[in-house]
Amino acid sequence: MPISFKKITIIKPDDWHVHLREKNILKTVINYTTSFYQRAIIMPNLCNPIVNCKQSIYYRNKILKAQNNNKKFQPLMTCYLTEFTSPKELEVGFSKNFFTAGKLYPSYSTTNSEKGIKNIKNIYSLLEIMEKIGMPLLIHGEETESTIDIFDRETKFIDNTLDPLRNTFPYLKIVLEHITTKESVDYVVDSNSPYLAATITPHHLMLNRNDMLVNGIKPYFYCLPILKRKIHQIALRNAIASGNKSFFLGSDTAPHYDKNKINTTGCAGIFNAPSSLLAYITVFEEMNALKYFQAFCSENGPKFYNMPLNKEKITLVRKPSQVIKRIKIGKNIITPFLAGQILNWSINI
Ligand code: NCD
Ligand code: ZN
Repeated sequence: MPISFKKITIIKPDDWHVHLREKNILKTVINYTTSFYQRAIIMPNLCNPIVNCKQSIYYRNKILKAQNNNKKFQPLMTCYLTEFTSPKELEVGFSKNFFTAGKLYPSYSTTNSEKGIKNIKNIYSLLEIMEKIGMPLLIHGEETESTIDIFDRETKFIDNTLDPLRNTFPYLKIVLEHITTKESVDYVVDSNSPYLAATITPHHLMLNRNDMLVNGIKPYFYCLPILKRKIHQIALRNAIASGNKSFFLGSDTAPHYDKNKINTTGCAGIFNAPSSLLAYITVFEEMNALKYFQAFCSENGPKFYNMPLNKEKITLVRKPSQVIKRIKIGKNIITPFLAGQILNWSINI
């Protein structure tokens, strides 16, 4: 990888965790993702979730039609697992490439997760088939029992759900998505398993809960899993700076209209597609870890998913650029992560 002080050229990255939504939002946000990323894992948590092959094909076509700046962009579709999903649907969907992975949302854990899983044991037959066919399981890893403190939900999930699940299905490929704690980092590192990986978002690398809650509450920093203490942010930053191949890029870009975020019950989710790659490189530079930037963005993910590396390249230049301040969609506005801020890096497309 040619690195110089002024610019860095890497294999074109993939984003392994993206929410594109539908209709007008889809038509606008898709072009940010396709500008920077060659492939993206598309989250299935639409209002009416993607639970079968037919819906997946339909949604995939909508995405391809909506994007207009990267002919080679590949949306990788996922199946929203429910307690009624048939193993056959997954098997056929995976073998025909209608699905790249299955997504486990514990019921009521996050946006549009109501139809998710109430009791993990009820989907053991699905997990068995996924283990057999090598279909990855993507996990929103938070326990949802009301007595569990929101800041402890991820760690409790590892102890109560993930660890027993991995003992039962040792060869099931699992991505623990958007990890936020030192415990999760340690769990992935200590497992040292080709069957377990984790994605890390730019906002969990750049922020901790003080950024969200001190000097006035910042609804734009509200996401799930929620931002944690600084020690956890540091653990995530050290994880990417270590070069450990079990960690890779998953931005969790999750657009919501401002009117839904700035509300008495504001939505969880940070729309970071316009700034995610520049945010990541900012952190890698701060951590003096640019030598691992390409692996995190463009190698570790495809290797885990058993996919070829992209052939295209992208060049990031050490030249200041400003993140777009707001995105208008009809009468509505979406405010991106780091809106209006000047970052040290720009993209040469
Ligand atoms: C996501 C969304 O809005 O769909 N929100 C979020 O805070 N990350 C869902 C998710 O990934 O949890
Ligand atoms: Zn998400």
